Amino acid sequence: MGTPQSNLDPFSAPFGSLFGDSMTMAVWADGAYSYPGHAVDLQPIPMHPGAHALHYASTCFEGLKAHRQADGTLAIFRLDDHVNRMLQSITKLRMSPPDAELLRTMIIDAVEANASFTPDPPGSLYIRPTFIGTLENIGAAAAPSDSGLLYVINSPVGDYFAGGIRPLNIYIETEIPRTTPQFGMIKSGANYAMALGPTLDAKRDHVADQVLFATGGDITETGASNFFLVDGDRLITRNLDSSFLHGVTRASVLTMAAELGYQVEERAVPLDELKAWAEHGEAFLSGTAAVVAPVGTIMVAGETLQLGDGQPGDNTLKLRQALVDVQLGVSADPYGWRTTVTG
Ligand SMILES: Cc1ncc(COP(=O)(O)O)c(C=O)c1O
Repeated sequence: MGTPQSNLDPFSAPFGSLFGDSMTMAVWADGAYSYPGHAVDLQPIPMHPGAHALHYASTCFEGLKAHRQADGTLAIFRLDDHVNRMLQSITKLRMSPPDAELLRTMIIDAVEANASFTPDPPGSLYIRPTFIGTLENIGAAAAPSDSGLLYVINSPVGDYFAGGIRPLNIYIETEIPRTTPQFGMIKSGANYAMALGPTLDAKRDHVADQVLFATGGDITETGASNFFLVDGDRLITRNLDSSFLHGVTRASVLTMAAELGYQVEERAVPLDELKAWAEHGEAFLSGTAAVVAPVGTIMVAGETLQLGDGQPGDNTLKLRQALVDVQLGVSADPYGWRTTVTG
């Protein structure tokens, strides 16, 4: 489909703009999912113009990665956690999810079919499972779709933030929420659509890389990552509730930081504490795409605060390295986070 992309460079192309040439696809109809059992060519998806997803946003997705390992094999990072979050998203959208085993198989089949597109580290093969409600009914605003299409596509990727590891400028938005409490845990396009306006405005008005949503001072997440404070002793991040996405990277960082001896705190972080923290501590973003991305400056209530010397801090880099080492098969995998696939 389109231009052959195997010889395009994922490090110079925008993140997510290149695709592997295969995909997997299953149809949900009459209460059952049917999957042919193998990948097919990447292709346009059949869709009626009155499809529910196009009108009433009955759609969600996941984002995970397969990494080329130190020993040359290929492994997907925290596959089962992403499968479970996708099933949760579909369920919260009031539709019937597939069995975890089916989605798991579809992801592995897609990755194996596209394995040759995987760039070497620090690149990876990004995996995008997607669900769309296909009910043909433009009057079904108050009813869920009872049919759908589940598919998995892949994108060879380099760095999410142009310029690799560099300190990010974060604007703190205290008025406009990113999403609503009933949608916070759903990885739904609707959430990203809501965050787009305030994010573009902040980029234009404050030259921000990302917006950290902190409605009424309650720091939650950015448009595509979770947020952490760290210093030599402590690691702090917002406690989980339904208001934001429960990042798999967030969970990984918490586990590894505890192992490395940090005192881990999951709790609310008041803006005043954040301001005080900037004087001595570090901050970073975590996410599948962002990995662990250092924050250099924070713009809050008209003030610009520099964290430390504005450069990536030692603790941030140490946690990033610990995460990358387990993703790439450089360190041991005590929690079974890697799923090795053929390719
Ligand atoms: C809104 C939002 N929050 C947090 C995250 C981080 O989640 P994860 O670490 O599972 O990628 C993401 C990225 O997927 C996201 O889009």
